[in-house]
Amino acid sequence: MNILFVGDIVGSPGRDMLKQYLSKLKSKYRPDLTIVNGENAANGKGLTEKLYHEILELGADIITMGNHTWDKKEIFDFIDSAPNMIRPANFPEGTPGRGIHYIKTNGKEIAVINLQGRTFLAPIDCPFRKAEELVEEAAKRTPLIFVDFHAEATSEKQAMGWFLDGKVSAVVGTHTHVQTADERILEKGTAYITDAGMTGPYDGILGVEKDMVIKRFLTSLPVRFEVAEGRAQLSAVLIQVDKQSGRAKKIQRLLINDDHHFFE
Ligand SMILES: [Fe+2]
Repeated sequence: MNILFVGDIVGSPGRDMLKQYLSKLKSKYRPDLTIVNGENAANGKGLTEKLYHEILELGADIITMGNHTWDKKEIFDFIDSAPNMIRPANFPEGTPGRGIHYIKTNGKEIAVINLQGRTFLAPIDCPFRKAEELVEEAAKRTPLIFVDFHAEATSEKQAMGWFLDGKVSAVVGTHTHVQTADERILEKGTAYITDAGMTGPYDGILGVEKDMVIKRFLTSLPVRFEVAEGRAQLSAVLIQVDKQSGRAKKIQRLLINDDHHFFE
């Protein structure tokens, strides 16, 4: 079973890359499930209902979120009626939306879980304890469990990878917007990467117009960030999982930009 995960879609450049390449990636790699992180899809911050549908129509089966989940106010109007979208499961009790989603593909059920780290991010509930609780619940239904861990610190992401090793098929990091080259299969069979990388502007700083970020570093003044224009990139990972055992067999980074070309 192949799972394609596309890293954080940033604004219209990210959506355009998805439009241009997702169907080509799907024809080439034939994923059974396609997961896209959409927390930056609406102008860099949050997701609108229109874009939720647009990303699904472009070929995503599930959209995961992160620390920008609540940035577009309309999210509160549609999150509870958006079945193919999950937000970090360790947001506090009473938060709208869900953090786990079960989806059937080719006769097999897969649990997709979204979690958020707490190091350099909001002090929400413990992602490790929430992971343990949800993985225990999911394992009663399926050995196929995918985790998008939206977190800032590399150490926290590695800790989650090892914490869930052998219990889930994959732990894929998101949020830092830079693809890491540490993709591997952990000892007990969990595919791991610290960050899948970002799908959006190629010439900005983490997707933001670079001059604005430089100005902020130079002056420490508050600067309004805007999504960068110009060239774009797509970052993703492809994970091959044994559908009986849930163990990962292979993890492969995918990067498309003007320095890394896509071959059909
Ligand atoms: Fe984020």
